[in-house]
Amino acid sequence: MYLTEEQLLVYKNQGLILLSECFSRAEVEIMKAELSALSTDKSPKKILEKDNKTVRSLHGSHTTNDVFNSLARHPLIVEPAMQIVGSQVYIYQFKVNLKAAFTGDIWKWHQDYIYWRKEDGMPRPQVVNAMCLLDDMSEFNGPLFVIPGSHREEMIDVTTDHPKVATTNSNISSDSDAWISSFSANLKYSLSPELVTDLVSKYGIYLIKAMAGSVLFFDSNIVHASSNNISPFGRSTVIITYNSIENIPLPVENPRPDFLVSQDYRPITPLATDALSQFSRVLL
Ligand code: SIN
Ligand code: MN
Repeated sequence: MYLTEEQLLVYKNQGLILLSECFSRAEVEIMKAELSALSTDKSPKKILEKDNKTVRSLHGSHTTNDVFNSLARHPLIVEPAMQIVGSQVYIYQFKVNLKAAFTGDIWKWHQDYIYWRKEDGMPRPQVVNAMCLLDDMSEFNGPLFVIPGSHREEMIDVTTDHPKVATTNSNISSDSDAWISSFSANLKYSLSPELVTDLVSKYGIYLIKAMAGSVLFFDSNIVHASSNNISPFGRSTVIITYNSIENIPLPVENPRPDFLVSQDYRPITPLATDALSQFSRVLL
């Protein structure tokens, strides 16, 4: 399924496009049924929350699990990804964020590309994220917050002393050094409150609210975050990052593990549209 010219324009201007209910309830259930088996896996591909027992994220599951491998190659995701990136793509990163009911923790304000550039040597932001919702995402269960249009700032280098946003509102200062204290060990390149204030004043703020089965494509330079989940509703999502085959990372001194940054650069060929629904037939 390809995006229309109008949808591509929305993506270009806003840095995101939401496709509501791409996948059926049955397809979502097929994917959700895989999560508990993956969550009991003891490999380092699993990240826990601060309580050291709730699973926060699972990485690289497409390499070990047939259902998630099919999701990552599904035409409803891969075809728009190729269109957005403007070439064939390969899977750069695959993660499941579980955001468990009552315990799922926050994601601080950040852009993605700075990680891929600084840690992995990715030459350009010719890359796209596809976030596939496995649960309904509402204002209650730690939804994704985005600053629409903020990708136009390009990569904001938070490692320099005074990263700035050219704000149109002169009452808001971006001069403060306080941003540096907001760094955290687990989210290295998060944005300071001052920068986020400037960006929100310039572009506004938006909360993604959508049903399970919806897919959000978002730019690697869009500023985003999410709050913790104190609700009784889980908020599991799969985020697949597709990189252009023309944008292979350059060698870096300390490469991150393969389950975080794939070195399998083979272009993805989209599967048939029943790539996920076929798994239910096996059960019949
Ligand atoms: C991310 O930024 O990678 C995750 C955001 C979220 O799951 O809310
Ligand atoms: Mn992110």
